[in-house]
Amino acid sequence: MNSTIDLINRRKSLRSYGSEQVSRQTKDLILDTALRAPTAGNMMLYSMLEIDDPVLKEKLAVSCDNQPFIARSPFAVIFLADYQRTWDYFKTCDVEGYCREQGRSLRRPGEGDFLLACNDALIAAQTAVIAAESLGLGSCYIGDIMENYEYHRELLKLPDYVFPVTMVCFGPPDGAHSRRRAVSRFEREFIHHTDSYSSLDSDDFDRMYAPWLRECGPEGGFRYGAANFGQHMYARKFDSEFSREMSRSVREALKLWES
Ligand SMILES: Cc1cc2nc3c(=O)[nH]c(=O)nc-3n(C[C@H](O)[C@H](O)[C@H](O)COP(=O)(O)O)c2cc1C
Repeated sequence: MNSTIDLINRRKSLRSYGSEQVSRQTKDLILDTALRAPTAGNMMLYSMLEIDDPVLKEKLAVSCDNQPFIARSPFAVIFLADYQRTWDYFKTCDVEGYCREQGRSLRRPGEGDFLLACNDALIAAQTAVIAAESLGLGSCYIGDIMENYEYHRELLKLPDYVFPVTMVCFGPPDGAHSRRRAVSRFEREFIHHTDSYSSLDSDDFDRMYAPWLRECGPEGGFRYGAANFGQHMYARKFDSEFSREMSRSVREALKLWES
């Protein structure tokens, strides 16, 4: 083991904060470190939108599936998939005139560019998470920022080729954080493939979910049993109102990215 691996293995999502301040210097160090994340073609197809205004944080706490801890985070950053900056640069360089001259059709940012920009933004986000952890700050991703696209677009003044792919709420851990148990992961045998993909059968799933069911205890998994835990997950997570809204919202955003 080394200290980096140890840090990654010890990380847990943080949703309640201690009272310590997070200095501007610490915030800037986290953001500067995120800039060193790998990025497709070194194009940096992302932006980091820090949410400082408490009123805006309150609004996001509601629009991101009613998660009040968002408003309490002393350092909240939305990681934006951002092709707008590059597209604006292309425009200042008159790529339209260039295409005319060259007899080529003008291509606008499309679905592949959207996904590439999302990759960039997420890799920067995780780099920030690890940097924060190394400075003693916890964090939690907020995937629900992908919901309510029209509302978030208006609220945050996002141009066409900018999509909020994730938010991360950082903060100092509260006293209980270190005592909270880490949630388990599936064993590697179910996740790691070599050379080609192999599907799992129902016995594999029983073994794969066994630690989850044990962790959920009588209040959770055991109530459902291994056989219908999947039905519970389907209803609570996959076919939930927020998942349906997320798909609708992303579909709406993607309309602008059609090439
Ligand atoms: C893409 C993504 C979106 C997430 N969205 C939320 C969220 O909206 N609210 C929340 O409380 N946790 C959210 N999480 C945190 C996960 O619930 C958490 O990582 C998972 O339960 C595993 O727990 P751990 O991070 O403590 O190991 C999200 C994590 C990821 C990677």
